Amino acid sequence: MVRLKKLGHIGIRAPDIKSSVDFYSRVFGLEVSERTEEGAVYLRCGPDHHSHVLYPAGRERPGLHHVAFEVTDPEELERAASIFERQGVPIIYGPGPRDEPGIARSLYVLDPDGNQVELYCGMQQIPRHEATSIMPTNIGHALFKMSDLAKAEHFYVDLLGLKVSDRVRGVATWLRYDPNHHGFALGQARTPGLHHTMYHVRDFGEVERAADIVTENKLRILWGPGRHQGPGAAYFLYFYDPDGNILEVGCNMEQIWDESYQGREWELGAAVGGDFGGPAPQEFLDTLIG
Ligand SMILES: [Fe+2]
Ligand SMILES: [Fe+2]
Repeated sequence: MVRLKKLGHIGIRAPDIKSSVDFYSRVFGLEVSERTEEGAVYLRCGPDHHSHVLYPAGRERPGLHHVAFEVTDPEELERAASIFERQGVPIIYGPGPRDEPGIARSLYVLDPDGNQVELYCGMQQIPRHEATSIMPTNIGHALFKMSDLAKAEHFYVDLLGLKVSDRVRGVATWLRYDPNHHGFALGQARTPGLHHTMYHVRDFGEVERAADIVTENKLRILWGPGRHQGPGAAYFLYFYDPDGNILEVGCNMEQIWDESYQGREWELGAAVGGDFGGPAPQEFLDTLIG
């Protein structure tokens, strides 16, 4: 299987790129690294050239464009490509140099639902400037709603090498690539696509501050601030960006250092409970499985 370094970035198609860039820079606190002639905007929160990319949606459906994982070097990209070839995974680009800003080489494949998954290496590093908004420290995870969870697990676990941290059998699977309990997650859903993108913030004070900033900017909170009782046990806040994509900010996620750790099984009710902040509202569950 592929040796992933980390979740690197998420690409989103935005119906109104100007207002999305305004939200992600002024309110969410990412910094614009680069804009392309085609109108794509690359944003970052740390030294990586980008962790969020906004593409003008044009005629295409707004929402997920691609997810990208970093690998260590070009050799690992070549190895990944041969794994995908052997497994019959459709490769739609590369591995090769890319005219995408900030990235040396990449490889694009399709997951079982046809989502574009990018593997890349050689991300340009830029020193971070002080920002004045929610100020996430790094991109944490994305949750993909999939049409067939078993097929999705085969792709993300057996081929991409993510490890299973926890499961609600037949409903959701939390995956990790480092000690953080989850760096990626999958859900079984009627309508496949991106469920949410999570960014880490420093501490719970920052989660509360984010809730104030979200409210001041007349955006809608979906769930929280609260603490998950379920998988990951992190502090969280879920809210909608101006286009209706769900964002999560959180901190203090459970760390798994034990090599012999075996994924736990959860009941749905316990998994979406909350130590405080209350259990998941119906709207959250609807967005997850609908
Ligand atoms: Fe990318
Ligand atoms: Fe999450």
